[in-house]
Amino acid sequence: MIKLVSVKKSYKTGAEHTEVLKDVSIDIDKGKYVSITGPSGSGKSTLLHLIGD
Ligand SMILES: Nc1ncnc2c1ncn2[C@@H]1O[C@H](COP(=O)(O)OP(=O)(O)OP(=O)(O)O)[C@@H](O)[C@H]1O
Ligand SMILES: [Mg+2]
Repeated sequence: MIKLVSVKKSYKTGAEHTEVLKDVSIDIDKGKYVSITGPSGSGKSTLLHLIGD
């Protein structure tokens, strides 16, 4: 299973500091299918990369 507890992620590009994920907590049971939805730029890819690490 996958478990995230209060995960934060931000990007720093020069002087800019973008908070993308703020306190994300999820539990996904083994064998479950889950979809991540949200508008463009909301952090879906960021979340998936994080889970993949
Ligand atoms: N390598 C990076 N450096 C700086 N900012 C980034 C980087 N990757 C993503 N971001 C920023 O993080 C935010 C979330 O991006 P992300 O790609 O996770 O969104 P998304 O939900 O997957 O969007 P889309 O539906 O367009 O794929 C955006 O504001 C984006 O500009
Ligand atoms: Mg994406």
